[in-house]
Amino acid sequence: MHMIDPDDHQAFAEAARAVLHGNRVQVDGYRYTRPAPSTYEHQWLWDSCFHAIVYRHFDPDMAADELRSLVAHQVTNGPDAGMIPHMTYWRGGGADLWGADHRSIITQPPLVAVAALQVQQAGIALAGELYEPICAHHEWLDRRRDPDGDDLVSILHPWESGWDASPRWDRAMRLSNPTDDDARNARIALAQQLRANQCAIEQHQQAGLFSVEAIDVNAIRVADLEALAELAYLAGKPEEAPRWEARAAAVRTAVRTKLLEPGPRDLEGPDELPIEEPGAAPFVALFGGCASAEQAEQLVGRLLSPSFATPFPVPTTPTGAPSFSPGRYWRGNVWPSVNWLIWQGLRRYGYTDAARALAQRTVDLVRQHGFWEYFNPLTGQGLGAQPQSWTTLAFDMLQE
Ligand code: GLC
Repeated sequence: MHMIDPDDHQAFAEAARAVLHGNRVQVDGYRYTRPAPSTYEHQWLWDSCFHAIVYRHFDPDMAADELRSLVAHQVTNGPDAGMIPHMTYWRGGGADLWGADHRSIITQPPLVAVAALQVQQAGIALAGELYEPICAHHEWLDRRRDPDGDDLVSILHPWESGWDASPRWDRAMRLSNPTDDDARNARIALAQQLRANQCAIEQHQQAGLFSVEAIDVNAIRVADLEALAELAYLAGKPEEAPRWEARAAAVRTAVRTKLLEPGPRDLEGPDELPIEEPGAAPFVALFGGCASAEQAEQLVGRLLSPSFATPFPVPTTPTGAPSFSPGRYWRGNVWPSVNWLIWQGLRRYGYTDAARALAQRTVDLVRQHGFWEYFNPLTGQGLGAQPQSWTTLAFDMLQE
Protein backbone atom coordinates (compact mmCIF):
# COMPACT_ATOMS: atom_id res chain seq x y z
CA MET A 1 0.00 0.00 0.00
CA HIS A 2 1.16 3.53 -0.71
CA MET A 3 1.50 5.95 2.12
CA ILE A 4 -1.73 7.91 2.57
CA ASP A 5 -1.48 11.70 2.56
CA PRO A 6 -1.93 12.82 6.20
CA ASP A 7 -4.31 15.62 5.22
CA ASP A 8 -6.49 13.50 3.01
CA HIS A 9 -9.24 12.15 5.28
CA GLN A 10 -11.25 11.02 2.31
CA ALA A 11 -8.42 8.83 1.06
CA PHE A 12 -8.09 7.24 4.49
CA ALA A 13 -11.83 6.59 4.64
CA GLU A 14 -11.73 5.03 1.18
CA ALA A 15 -8.80 2.83 2.13
CA ALA A 16 -10.56 1.60 5.28
CA ARG A 17 -13.76 0.94 3.39
CA ALA A 18 -11.87 -0.97 0.72
CA VAL A 19 -10.22 -3.21 3.34
CA LEU A 20 -13.50 -4.10 5.02
CA HIS A 21 -15.42 -4.60 1.81
CA GLY A 22 -12.61 -6.64 0.32
CA ASN A 23 -12.54 -8.96 3.33
CA ARG A 24 -16.32 -9.38 3.50
CA VAL A 25 -17.97 -12.64 2.49
CA GLN A 26 -21.49 -13.93 2.08
CA VAL A 27 -22.39 -17.46 3.11
CA ASP A 28 -25.69 -19.22 3.86
CA GLY A 29 -27.59 -15.94 3.65
CA TYR A 30 -25.28 -14.32 6.21
CA ARG A 31 -22.51 -11.77 5.76
CA TYR A 32 -19.41 -11.36 7.85
CA THR A 33 -15.91 -9.97 7.46
CA ARG A 34 -12.82 -12.14 7.61
CA PRO A 35 -10.13 -10.66 9.87
CA ALA A 36 -7.65 -11.23 7.02
CA PRO A 37 -8.34 -13.47 4.02
CA SER A 38 -4.80 -14.88 3.87
CA THR A 39 -4.68 -16.06 7.48
CA TYR A 40 -8.06 -15.77 9.14
CA GLU A 41 -10.91 -16.83 6.91
CA HIS A 42 -13.39 -17.66 9.69
CA GLN A 43 -15.38 -15.28 11.88
CA TRP A 44 -13.93 -14.13 15.22
CA LEU A 45 -15.95 -12.62 18.05
CA TRP A 46 -14.15 -9.46 19.08
CA ASP A 47 -12.95 -8.79 15.53
CA SER A 48 -16.55 -8.72 14.30
CA CYS A 49 -17.52 -6.30 17.07
CA PHE A 50 -14.72 -3.99 15.93
CA HIS A 51 -15.73 -4.39 12.29
CA ALA A 52 -19.31 -3.42 13.13
CA ILE A 53 -18.10 -0.34 14.98
CA VAL A 54 -16.22 0.83 11.88
CA TYR A 55 -18.85 -0.20 9.34
CA ARG A 56 -21.43 1.93 11.13
CA HIS A 57 -19.75 5.01 9.66
CA PHE A 58 -20.29 4.04 6.05
CA ASP A 59 -22.37 0.88 5.84
CA PRO A 60 -24.68 0.53 8.88
CA ASP A 61 -26.59 -2.35 7.27
CA MET A 62 -23.39 -4.33 7.00
CA ALA A 63 -22.57 -3.42 10.62
CA ALA A 64 -25.85 -5.00 11.69
CA ASP A 65 -25.29 -8.08 9.51
CA GLU A 66 -21.82 -8.53 11.00
CA LEU A 67 -23.39 -8.86 14.46
CA ARG A 68 -26.27 -11.02 13.27
CA SER A 69 -23.84 -13.54 11.83
CA LEU A 70 -21.79 -13.37 15.03
CA VAL A 71 -24.65 -14.66 17.17
CA ALA A 72 -25.93 -17.16 14.60
CA HIS A 73 -23.90 -20.00 16.11
CA GLN A 74 -24.49 -19.13 19.73
CA VAL A 75 -24.80 -22.30 21.80
CA THR A 76 -28.46 -23.12 22.35
CA ASN A 77 -28.44 -26.13 24.64
CA GLY A 78 -26.40 -28.05 27.17
CA PRO A 79 -24.36 -26.58 30.02
CA ASP A 80 -22.85 -23.90 27.78
CA ALA A 81 -26.16 -22.61 26.41
CA GLY A 82 -25.81 -18.88 25.78
CA MET A 83 -22.12 -18.84 24.92
CA ILE A 84 -21.16 -16.88 21.82
CA PRO A 85 -18.21 -18.75 20.33
CA HIS A 86 -14.89 -17.06 19.72
CA MET A 87 -14.84 -18.55 16.22
CA THR A 88 -17.58 -19.40 13.79
CA TYR A 89 -16.51 -21.69 10.95
CA TRP A 90 -19.12 -20.80 8.34
CA ARG A 91 -17.86 -23.41 5.92
CA GLY A 92 -17.07 -25.96 8.61
CA GLY A 93 -13.61 -27.08 9.66
CA GLY A 94 -13.79 -26.83 13.44
CA ALA A 95 -14.49 -30.49 14.16
CA ASP A 96 -10.91 -31.72 14.46
CA LEU A 97 -10.03 -29.28 17.17
CA TRP A 98 -13.35 -28.67 18.89
CA GLY A 99 -15.58 -31.59 18.08
CA ALA A 100 -18.05 -29.08 16.58
CA ASP A 101 -17.73 -28.33 12.90
CA HIS A 102 -19.15 -24.81 12.83
CA ARG A 103 -17.93 -23.23 16.02
CA SER A 104 -15.29 -23.26 18.72
CA ILE A 105 -16.18 -24.22 22.31
CA ILE A 106 -14.58 -21.14 23.92
CA THR A 107 -15.36 -17.43 23.79
CA GLN A 108 -13.57 -14.05 23.44
CA PRO A 109 -13.89 -10.64 25.18
CA PRO A 110 -17.61 -9.77 25.46
CA LEU A 111 -18.06 -6.69 23.34
CA VAL A 112 -21.25 -7.45 21.41
CA ALA A 113 -23.51 -5.10 23.39
CA VAL A 114 -21.03 -2.24 23.00
CA ALA A 115 -20.98 -2.79 19.24
CA ALA A 116 -24.76 -3.31 18.96
CA LEU A 117 -25.44 -0.09 20.83
CA GLN A 118 -23.17 1.87 18.51
CA VAL A 119 -24.86 0.34 15.46
CA GLN A 120 -28.29 1.14 16.89
CA GLN A 121 -27.15 4.72 17.45
CA ALA A 122 -26.12 4.83 13.79
CA GLY A 123 -29.77 4.31 12.90
CA ILE A 124 -30.30 0.54 12.60
CA ALA A 125 -32.91 -0.86 14.98
CA LEU A 126 -30.99 -3.86 16.20
CA ALA A 127 -31.69 -3.90 19.92
CA GLY A 128 -34.88 -5.96 19.68
CA GLU A 129 -33.07 -8.67 17.78
CA LEU A 130 -29.82 -8.84 19.71
CA TYR A 131 -30.90 -8.09 23.26
CA GLU A 132 -31.87 -11.65 24.22
CA PRO A 133 -28.80 -13.34 22.67
CA ILE A 134 -26.50 -10.91 24.47
CA CYS A 135 -28.33 -11.41 27.78
CA ALA A 136 -27.90 -15.16 27.34
CA HIS A 137 -24.17 -14.70 26.79
CA HIS A 138 -23.72 -12.69 29.99
CA GLU A 139 -25.84 -15.15 31.93
CA TRP A 140 -23.58 -17.89 30.62
CA LEU A 141 -20.48 -16.01 31.79
CA ASP A 142 -21.94 -15.60 35.27
CA ARG A 143 -23.12 -19.21 35.45
CA ARG A 144 -20.11 -21.02 34.02
CA ARG A 145 -17.10 -18.83 34.63
CA ASP A 146 -17.32 -17.49 38.16
CA PRO A 147 -17.19 -20.53 40.44
CA ASP A 148 -15.90 -18.52 43.44
CA GLY A 149 -18.68 -15.94 43.04
CA ASP A 150 -16.37 -12.92 43.28
CA ASP A 151 -17.95 -11.29 40.18
CA LEU A 152 -14.78 -11.79 38.13
CA VAL A 153 -15.06 -14.33 35.33
CA SER A 154 -12.15 -16.54 34.35
CA ILE A 155 -10.86 -17.28 30.91
CA LEU A 156 -9.85 -20.89 30.35
CA HIS A 157 -7.59 -20.40 27.36
CA PRO A 158 -5.31 -17.55 26.22
CA TRP A 159 -7.36 -17.40 23.03
CA GLU A 160 -10.30 -16.22 25.12
CA SER A 161 -8.43 -13.01 25.95
CA GLY A 162 -7.59 -12.32 22.32
CA TRP A 163 -3.94 -11.93 23.47
CA ASP A 164 -2.97 -15.39 22.29
CA ALA A 165 0.76 -15.56 23.01
CA SER A 166 1.25 -12.84 25.60
CA PRO A 167 3.96 -13.40 28.24
CA ARG A 168 1.15 -12.68 30.71
CA TRP A 169 0.07 -16.26 30.20
CA ASP A 170 3.44 -18.04 30.30
CA ARG A 171 3.35 -19.09 33.93
CA ALA A 172 -0.30 -20.15 33.82
CA MET A 173 0.55 -22.13 30.66
CA ARG A 174 3.48 -23.74 32.54
CA LEU A 175 5.91 -22.26 30.03
CA SER A 176 9.16 -20.47 30.64
CA ASN A 177 10.78 -18.46 27.85
CA PRO A 178 8.89 -20.52 25.26
CA THR A 179 9.65 -20.55 21.56
CA ASP A 180 6.69 -19.55 19.40
CA ASP A 181 6.23 -23.18 18.38
CA ASP A 182 6.27 -24.45 21.96
CA ALA A 183 3.70 -21.89 23.00
CA ARG A 184 1.49 -22.68 20.02
CA ASN A 185 1.63 -26.42 20.70
CA ALA A 186 0.72 -25.76 24.32
CA ARG A 187 -2.32 -23.75 23.22
CA ILE A 188 -3.49 -26.54 20.96
CA ALA A 189 -3.00 -29.13 23.71
CA LEU A 190 -5.01 -26.92 26.07
CA ALA A 191 -7.84 -26.69 23.55
CA GLN A 192 -7.90 -30.49 23.41
CA GLN A 193 -8.03 -30.69 27.20
CA LEU A 194 -10.94 -28.25 27.27
CA ARG A 195 -12.77 -30.41 24.82
CA ALA A 196 -12.09 -33.51 26.91
CA ASN A 197 -13.43 -31.96 30.11
CA GLN A 198 -16.27 -30.17 28.28
CA CYS A 199 -15.14 -26.78 29.54
CA ALA A 200 -16.21 -27.56 33.10
CA ILE A 201 -14.28 -24.95 35.05
CA GLU A 202 -14.09 -26.83 38.36
CA GLN A 203 -12.61 -29.88 36.68
CA HIS A 204 -10.30 -27.70 34.62
CA GLN A 205 -9.04 -25.86 37.71
CA GLN A 206 -8.63 -29.04 39.73
CA ALA A 207 -6.39 -30.37 36.98
CA GLY A 208 -4.22 -27.24 37.39
CA LEU A 209 -4.99 -26.07 33.87
CA PHE A 210 -4.98 -22.46 32.65
CA SER A 211 -7.61 -20.32 34.31
CA VAL A 212 -7.22 -16.58 34.81
CA GLU A 213 -9.38 -13.72 36.07
CA ALA A 214 -8.08 -11.30 33.46
CA ILE A 215 -8.27 -7.56 34.08
CA ASP A 216 -9.03 -6.51 30.51
CA VAL A 217 -11.64 -9.19 29.84
CA ASN A 218 -13.50 -8.22 33.01
CA ALA A 219 -13.25 -4.50 32.29
CA ILE A 220 -14.61 -5.05 28.78
CA ARG A 221 -17.39 -7.06 30.39
CA VAL A 222 -18.31 -4.05 32.55
CA ALA A 223 -18.62 -1.82 29.48
CA ASP A 224 -20.69 -4.48 27.75
CA LEU A 225 -23.05 -4.84 30.74
CA GLU A 226 -23.53 -1.07 30.77
CA ALA A 227 -24.36 -1.15 27.06
CA LEU A 228 -26.70 -4.08 27.68
CA ALA A 229 -28.64 -1.99 30.19
CA GLU A 230 -29.12 0.65 27.48
CA LEU A 231 -30.15 -2.00 25.00
CA ALA A 232 -32.82 -3.15 27.46
CA TYR A 233 -34.52 0.25 27.13
CA LEU A 234 -34.15 0.24 23.36
CA ALA A 235 -35.54 -3.29 23.17
CA GLY A 236 -38.65 -2.19 25.08
CA LYS A 237 -37.67 -3.92 28.32
CA PRO A 238 -36.83 -1.00 30.61
CA GLU A 239 -37.72 -3.07 33.67
CA GLU A 240 -34.67 -5.26 32.97
CA ALA A 241 -32.16 -2.43 32.75
CA PRO A 242 -31.51 -2.12 36.51
CA ARG A 243 -30.45 -5.74 36.65
CA TRP A 244 -27.68 -5.15 34.11
CA GLU A 245 -26.70 -1.86 35.68
CA ALA A 246 -26.31 -3.68 38.99
CA ARG A 247 -24.18 -6.39 37.37
CA ALA A 248 -21.96 -3.74 35.78
CA ALA A 249 -21.52 -2.00 39.13
CA ALA A 250 -20.64 -5.23 40.94
CA VAL A 251 -18.08 -6.29 38.36
CA ARG A 252 -16.60 -2.78 38.29
CA THR A 253 -16.11 -2.90 42.07
CA ALA A 254 -14.49 -6.32 41.81
CA VAL A 255 -12.05 -5.13 39.15
CA ARG A 256 -11.24 -2.06 41.21
CA THR A 257 -10.72 -3.79 44.53
CA LYS A 258 -9.21 -7.11 43.45
CA LEU A 259 -7.33 -6.38 40.23
CA LEU A 260 -6.40 -2.69 40.36
CA GLU A 261 -6.06 -1.93 44.04
CA PRO A 262 -2.98 -3.89 45.04
CA GLY A 263 -1.24 -2.86 41.83
CA PRO A 264 -2.72 -3.97 38.55
CA ARG A 265 -2.64 -7.68 37.87
CA ASP A 266 -4.54 -10.72 36.68
CA LEU A 267 -5.32 -13.55 39.09
CA GLU A 268 -4.41 -17.12 38.22
CA GLY A 269 -6.34 -20.22 39.21
CA PRO A 270 -8.63 -20.92 42.17
CA ASP A 271 -5.92 -19.72 44.56
CA GLU A 272 -5.84 -16.37 42.77
CA LEU A 273 -2.10 -16.21 42.37
CA PRO A 274 -1.23 -12.69 41.14
CA ILE A 275 0.25 -12.45 37.64
CA GLU A 276 2.50 -9.43 37.75
CA GLU A 277 3.97 -9.59 34.26
CA PRO A 278 3.94 -5.92 33.15
CA GLY A 279 1.79 -5.02 30.18
CA ALA A 280 -0.87 -2.83 28.63
CA ALA A 281 -3.88 -4.84 29.82
CA PRO A 282 -4.45 -2.72 32.97
CA PHE A 283 -5.00 0.35 30.76
CA VAL A 284 -8.11 -1.39 29.44
CA ALA A 285 -9.60 -1.03 32.93
CA LEU A 286 -10.32 2.57 31.89
CA PHE A 287 -12.59 1.30 29.11
CA GLY A 288 -14.93 -0.21 31.70
CA GLY A 289 -14.71 2.80 34.01
CA CYS A 290 -13.21 0.48 36.62
CA ALA A 291 -10.47 2.76 37.95
CA SER A 292 -10.94 5.35 40.69
CA ALA A 293 -9.73 8.85 39.77
CA GLU A 294 -6.47 8.14 41.59
CA GLN A 295 -5.99 4.75 39.93
CA ALA A 296 -6.69 6.34 36.55
CA GLU A 297 -4.06 8.98 37.22
CA GLN A 298 -1.52 6.25 37.97
CA LEU A 299 -2.46 4.23 34.92
CA VAL A 300 -2.19 7.23 32.61
CA GLY A 301 1.13 8.19 34.16
CA ARG A 302 2.41 4.74 33.34
CA LEU A 303 0.94 4.82 29.84
CA LEU A 304 2.83 8.05 29.14
CA SER A 305 6.10 6.85 30.67
CA PRO A 306 9.01 5.97 28.34
CA SER A 307 8.51 2.20 28.39
CA PHE A 308 5.03 2.54 26.91
CA ALA A 309 5.49 5.85 25.04
CA THR A 310 7.30 4.24 22.12
CA PRO A 311 7.49 5.99 18.73
CA PHE A 312 4.29 4.10 17.93
CA PRO A 313 2.37 3.32 21.12
CA VAL A 314 1.02 1.21 22.82
CA PRO A 315 3.26 -1.88 23.06
CA THR A 316 1.38 -4.69 24.84
CA THR A 317 4.58 -5.42 26.79
CA PRO A 318 6.68 -2.42 27.92
CA THR A 319 10.09 -1.93 26.35
CA GLY A 320 11.92 -2.37 29.65
CA ALA A 321 10.48 -5.81 30.44
CA PRO A 322 12.71 -8.88 29.95
CA SER A 323 9.94 -10.45 27.86
CA PHE A 324 9.70 -7.43 25.51
CA SER A 325 10.14 -8.68 21.97
CA PRO A 326 8.78 -6.15 19.47
CA GLY A 327 8.70 -8.50 16.51
CA ARG A 328 7.16 -11.52 18.21
CA TYR A 329 3.43 -12.18 18.16
CA TRP A 330 1.76 -10.63 21.23
CA ARG A 331 5.08 -10.16 23.03
CA GLY A 332 5.50 -6.41 22.71
CA ASN A 333 3.74 -5.24 19.55
CA VAL A 334 1.12 -2.59 18.89
CA TRP A 335 -2.37 -4.00 18.29
CA PRO A 336 -5.13 -1.82 16.83
CA SER A 337 -7.75 -3.56 18.98
CA VAL A 338 -5.89 -2.76 22.20
CA ASN A 339 -5.16 0.81 21.15
CA TRP A 340 -8.84 1.41 20.42
CA LEU A 341 -9.90 0.12 23.86
CA ILE A 342 -7.30 2.29 25.61
CA TRP A 343 -8.25 5.31 23.52
CA GLN A 344 -11.91 4.90 24.49
CA GLY A 345 -10.88 4.58 28.12
CA LEU A 346 -8.84 7.78 28.01
CA ARG A 347 -11.81 9.64 26.56
CA ARG A 348 -14.11 8.20 29.18
CA TYR A 349 -11.91 9.63 31.95
CA GLY A 350 -11.47 12.99 30.26
CA TYR A 351 -7.81 12.55 29.28
CA THR A 352 -8.60 14.30 26.03
CA ASP A 353 -5.07 15.24 25.03
CA ALA A 354 -3.69 11.77 25.68
CA ALA A 355 -6.60 10.25 23.78
CA ARG A 356 -6.08 12.56 20.83
CA ALA A 357 -2.35 11.85 20.77
CA LEU A 358 -2.94 8.10 20.81
CA ALA A 359 -5.49 8.38 18.01
CA GLN A 360 -3.05 10.48 16.00
CA ARG A 361 -0.15 8.05 16.43
CA THR A 362 -2.38 5.11 15.53
CA VAL A 363 -3.66 6.83 12.40
CA ASP A 364 -0.10 7.83 11.44
CA LEU A 365 1.04 4.25 11.90
CA VAL A 366 -1.62 2.91 9.55
CA ARG A 367 -1.16 5.70 7.03
CA GLN A 368 2.57 5.15 6.85
CA HIS A 369 2.69 1.37 7.01
CA GLY A 370 -0.68 0.01 5.93
CA PHE A 371 -3.48 -2.09 7.37
CA TRP A 372 -1.37 -4.75 9.10
CA GLU A 373 -2.57 -7.05 11.84
CA TYR A 374 -0.04 -5.65 14.34
CA PHE A 375 3.08 -3.49 14.33
CA ASN A 376 6.56 -3.05 15.74
CA PRO A 377 6.22 -0.21 18.30
CA LEU A 378 9.76 1.07 17.69
CA THR A 379 9.83 1.16 13.91
CA GLY A 380 6.18 0.91 12.90
CA GLN A 381 6.95 -2.07 10.70
CA GLY A 382 3.77 -3.98 9.83
CA LEU A 383 3.59 -7.57 11.10
CA GLY A 384 1.34 -10.60 10.73
CA ALA A 385 -1.48 -10.55 8.21
CA GLN A 386 -2.62 -7.81 5.88
CA PRO A 387 -4.94 -6.31 4.96
CA GLN A 388 -6.37 -6.88 8.44
CA SER A 389 -9.94 -5.72 8.99
CA TRP A 390 -9.65 -4.47 12.57
CA THR A 391 -6.89 -2.05 11.64
CA THR A 392 -9.68 0.08 10.15
CA LEU A 393 -10.38 1.01 13.79
CA ALA A 394 -7.87 3.77 13.08
CA PHE A 395 -10.57 5.28 10.89
CA ASP A 396 -13.01 5.24 13.82
CA MET A 397 -10.35 7.00 15.90
CA LEU A 398 -9.92 9.63 13.19
CA GLN A 399 -13.68 10.13 12.91
CA GLU A 400 -14.19 11.04 16.54
C1 GLC B 1 -5.36 -13.76 16.41
C2 GLC B 1 -5.45 -12.75 17.56
C3 GLC B 1 -6.89 -12.66 18.06
C4 GLC B 1 -7.81 -12.34 16.89
C5 GLC B 1 -7.62 -13.32 15.72
C6 GLC B 1 -8.34 -12.90 14.47
O1 GLC B 1 -5.68 -15.04 16.87
O2 GLC B 1 -4.60 -13.10 18.59
O3 GLC B 1 -7.02 -11.69 19.05
O4 GLC B 1 -9.12 -12.35 17.30
O5 GLC B 1 -6.26 -13.42 15.39
O6 GLC B 1 -7.91 -11.63 14.07
